[in-house]
Amino acid sequence: MRRIAITNLKGGVGKTTTAVNLAAGLCRKLRERGERVLLIDLDPQIEASASSWLERSDPESRLLGALRGESGLIDLVQETSVPGLDLIPGCGGLARAEVLLSSEPGSETVLAGVVGALPERWSVVLLDTPPAHGWLMHSALAAASDVLVVIESGAMALGSLAGLDRVVSLVRQRLNPDLELFGVLQCRADARTRLYREVDELLKAQFPEEALSTIVRTDVRLLEAPGHCQDIFRYAPQSRAAEDFSQLADEVGARLGLRGF
Ligand SMILES: Nc1ncnc2c1ncn2[C@@H]1O[C@H](COP(=O)(O)OP(=O)(O)OP(=O)(O)O)[C@@H](O)[C@H]1O
Ligand SMILES: [Mg+2]
Repeated sequence: MRRIAITNLKGGVGKTTTAVNLAAGLCRKLRERGERVLLIDLDPQIEASASSWLERSDPESRLLGALRGESGLIDLVQETSVPGLDLIPGCGGLARAEVLLSSEPGSETVLAGVVGALPERWSVVLLDTPPAHGWLMHSALAAASDVLVVIESGAMALGSLAGLDRVVSLVRQRLNPDLELFGVLQCRADARTRLYREVDELLKAQFPEEALSTIVRTDVRLLEAPGHCQDIFRYAPQSRAAEDFSQLADEVGARLGLRGF
């Protein structure tokens, strides 16, 4: 089961937006075949998380309990209003996980252990990560098979990408030798600007294999959708964001070799 960590060291670049709408886009094709997608929310900032986008209720602090061995991760899986999409909700308590667990030996591989024990029930698992470079991020990279880096198209983007590339190399050496850099996605891009074209050229020169051909353009509909607890396909099916996420799901599904893409 491929497990894609959606990440960047920088905050506010569109990770959660990508996690929710890529998951919904993949589900649109997979559910025709009875296949499902799992989204694991590892962000302790609940107000801005995938969990609060998909469900209006406050999730309980059970993910922390699963990391402490008090329950199985499978018991936390819940169906969402997006057909075909299951969620393991995040919780504010995750912020305490680092304090409680990081002094224990090998604690960065605890999440990998509990994710690895999940049944092979999903065609793909997406992990939405917090922005900070720390224990939770390293745990997510240890638990993932692949990394999808989301960058905000702009001057600082390639610097943050280089920083993350170093972290991925270290995680590969020390925690997870099989971790692959799956792709780099430009989000909040304005394709009409010179800055976009410059960043795009540099990105394709530095990461020719990984730079995705899909970009997610800036669209106000993406700012509005979480307030309605709807993915972009339901909230604004005719929007350019829906078009971009549909193309992204096709590209990611094909790269993963999923049937039907
Ligand atoms: N393509 C886009 N067009 C317009 N707004 C966008 C786009 N992508 C993301 N946004 C908005 O930018 C803000 C940050 O996005 P998001 O929460 O997805 O980023 P994040 O990387 O998950 O942030 P954090 O690091 O805090 O977890 C949100 O208000 C979101 O609605
Ligand atoms: Mg986020």
